[in-house]
Amino acid sequence: MGKNDGNLMEKIVSFAKRRGFIFQSSEIYGGFASCYDYGPIGVALKNNVKAAWWKAMVQEHPEIVGLDSSILMAPQVWEASGHLGAGFTDPMAECKKCHKRFRPDKLDDQKKCPECGGELGDTRQFNIMMKTFVGPVEDTASTTYLRGETCQGIYLNYENVRESMRLKVPFGIAQIGKAFRNEITPGNFTFRMREFEQMEMQYFVNPKNKKKEFKRWKEARMKWYEEYGINKKNLKYYEQTKEDLAHYSSAAVDIEYSFPFGDDEIEGIHDRGDWDLSNHSKHSGKDLKYFNAETKEKYFPHIIETSAGADRATLVFLVDAFDIVSGGRTKTTESNKEEEFVLRLDKRLAPIKVAILPLSKKKEVSEPAKKIFDELKESWMVQYDETGSIGRRYRRQDEIGTPFCVTLDFDSLEDKAVTVRDRDTMEQERVAIGELKDYLTEKLGF
Ligand code: GAP
Repeated sequence: MGKNDGNLMEKIVSFAKRRGFIFQSSEIYGGFASCYDYGPIGVALKNNVKAAWWKAMVQEHPEIVGLDSSILMAPQVWEASGHLGAGFTDPMAECKKCHKRFRPDKLDDQKKCPECGGELGDTRQFNIMMKTFVGPVEDTASTTYLRGETCQGIYLNYENVRESMRLKVPFGIAQIGKAFRNEITPGNFTFRMREFEQMEMQYFVNPKNKKKEFKRWKEARMKWYEEYGINKKNLKYYEQTKEDLAHYSSAAVDIEYSFPFGDDEIEGIHDRGDWDLSNHSKHSGKDLKYFNAETKEKYFPHIIETSAGADRATLVFLVDAFDIVSGGRTKTTESNKEEEFVLRLDKRLAPIKVAILPLSKKKEVSEPAKKIFDELKESWMVQYDETGSIGRRYRRQDEIGTPFCVTLDFDSLEDKAVTVRDRDTMEQERVAIGELKDYLTEKLGF
């Protein structure tokens, strides 16, 4: 079943707040539009998503290396990249009555204000780079921009990285970091924000091989989402048309997910050709051509880019794993009447891997429970929770996607064993305390 359902998104937004995943930024001041904060459970999930991406892109590819470049760069970078020109603009129209601004191309009726019904003024192009001032004087000499895409830092360091790591084409540079865009109509929760995080990899290839590499990365990136548990039925490719292409792209395909608010892009695979290296060569005066000592060829490597949003990927994992079960799954009194939420996340992405739930707060039970917590925390994110009924505690863990709950009772003192409950099957197994770590290692797979 697809996730295409308007009400579902509302449920997920309130659930994400209630369970510590995602909060509106500056909430106590009424909220700051299209900026969000990740709570304790959300940051654990997002960190796991980023680690999974890094593993797939850097750890598992000897020819791909990592980078962490700065957000602020010389303003000339954005002249050279084309981001200050017409390529990085969105159409904008202002309502003549309420003066709110909209992207007319995203409206059903492009002539009317969707808020007050007023007439919309002329459409003009609005550059979405975020301007900022560096240094104490706010004059034009010190104007620069918060980066609109992380990959520009990769192109600027292309020679440093290639030389210091002794790389030969084909090779790749990967980076995770914040990007900023002054989006006109942001929305749909963390899907479109003004401050967001990208996970980008730039693969430098001989132009002769770029079609083959484009196909390889397009398939590899789709596989990554599937491998981490996203339902294949909710994923698809969208081949960009000439009109869709960004100013730097000569070919592009998007990976789309079927969100509750409709199908939309979560990642783009782009053939950027020699757009970036040749423009930076021209503007900086530095020769960024690659010289192949064996064949004596000298050329600008072409770039195949994989560009994913860390926030969009996190949202996709959250939405896809979100399962609503009615009819009292955990058989607690209140849950008989209520819907229960189970987050069926891949174990590698689950924010908390194991919860330790003593059935009594008495010292005889809580002390050995804390000892187990101390032992397991060396290996995984583990949570200790002794408050509330056991049914409620199970539900809390199911909601944040914890794969295993471990309970201790008075019997544990006698038989030196605990009960381990599986999130998905709710099956329970008695496991000797001395074997618990090995048991969980095998079940988790890491
Ligand atoms: N370097 C290429 C590039 O930036 P893009 O298609 O503009 O390409 C790539 O962005 C990805 O970054 C998108 O697929 C999306 O996941 C994420 N992204 C872009 N704008 C975003 C926004 N306003 N909020 C959240 N994520 C965004």
